[in-house]
Amino acid sequence: MPKNVLICNFCNQKIISPKRIFRSPANKFLICEDCIRSCYKACEKDKVYFTSSARRESDIKPDGKPGKKIPPRAIKEELDKYVIGQDDAKIALAIAVYNHYKMLDIHSDVKISKSNILLIGPTGSGKTLLAQTIAGLLDVPFAIADCTSLTEAGYIGDDVESVLWKLISAADGDITRAERGIIFLDEVDKLAKTDIGASLTKDPSGEGVQQALLKLIEGTTANVSEHNRRKLPMEQGLQVNTENILFICGGAFPGLDKIINRRTASSEKCIGFGADVEKKETRPPGETLKNVETEDLVKYGLIPEFIGRLPVIVSLDELDEDAMVDILAKPQNSIVSQYRKLMEYDGIELVFTERALREIARETLKKKTGARGLRNIIEGILRESMYTLPSDEEAEKCIVDGITRDKIHIERQSETMAVC
Ligand SMILES: Nc1ncnc2c1ncn2[C@@H]1O[C@H](COP(=O)(O)OP(=O)(O)O)[C@@H](O)[C@H]1O
Ligand SMILES: [Mg+2]
Repeated sequence: MPKNVLICNFCNQKIISPKRIFRSPANKFLICEDCIRSCYKACEKDKVYFTSSARRESDIKPDGKPGKKIPPRAIKEELDKYVIGQDDAKIALAIAVYNHYKMLDIHSDVKISKSNILLIGPTGSGKTLLAQTIAGLLDVPFAIADCTSLTEAGYIGDDVESVLWKLISAADGDITRAERGIIFLDEVDKLAKTDIGASLTKDPSGEGVQQALLKLIEGTTANVSEHNRRKLPMEQGLQVNTENILFICGGAFPGLDKIINRRTASSEKCIGFGADVEKKETRPPGETLKNVETEDLVKYGLIPEFIGRLPVIVSLDELDEDAMVDILAKPQNSIVSQYRKLMEYDGIELVFTERALREIARETLKKKTGARGLRNIIEGILRESMYTLPSDEEAEKCIVDGITRDKIHIERQSETMAVC
């Protein structure tokens, strides 16, 4: 064969002009235009389209399906490394996700229903963190959608299919992978329709969004619309089967404790313990939320069908001072360790005393934003030091002993030498 005839390494045929030729990056392989086209068609047929990054081998189990099979106890132990407390929620989540991925692998005549989860807990108590961490452990695509931005089809805003769009993006465009992913629907309490339970004024379209989400949660083949996919280079609409997508919902549900108290009080009254009513109402909200029943959520304004699709309901505890102190220093990648790393870069050792951690925790509790407020307070304490120390050649150690400026002590080389 003449030397200048090019052969496609894929189909072994001569590449005859004007057919285009594609070379591998190292210039070792050639592929012809026809092969490229047939690969593209095959991918589209399997609802998989080209992705910029190849699927990582670690994502794939021996049977070729994404999603690691980690037993519930191991999941809980892993979660413990990142999330402080919230044991009930961790165990419920661990069981639910384990069963979910087991269910996807069991090919049987018995259809096992999905264990979608509802996490109820105060703001900044770790709902999003738990969902994020668990998705990271299992190596499955994960997307967070804020329900407050969702609207019914036809209204201005994101329609519910935009949630699927986020999941597809998280799966690098691989729909098969996205179809086994996890969607975290945050702030579902904001979808409650106006009702006796909710003292806040609610968006009247909330119920419509619940209806629309209901279909996704129970399993449907959804069309990701033109509007939702405008950022991706697709030519045709995408169909996504949501049957195997696990939904985790989260919400703070302010005022739900009052509904629970009213119910428990009236049922206790009926059996003659009316005198306890006052005492029960003064229970901390976190305690009360543990007794939540679906009827309380219906009173709150969630539609029964929506709640019916969330068989696992768990409440998270309000974080107390000890928990806040632990959150500051204990988790892998804790806030304290992050700031230590930042200062280490400038050759400075950052130390927080126990007293400082307690004061930061107490100050954060006052703000009522949960652990979310911790970083903000530390940022305020360290602002001046982070501004001045990088140009302070002599600074070696920064000791934080409280939340006020006078409680920050800087140790310098000259001082250390003087002590020696
Ligand atoms: N239980 C917890 N353990 C460790 N960090 C937490 C915990 N709860 C909250 N945090 C911290 O507070 C931040 C906000 O928490 P998040 O999970 O978003 O709260 P929410 O319950 O409102 O979803 C997290 O990024 C994390 O830094
Ligand atoms: Mg959240």
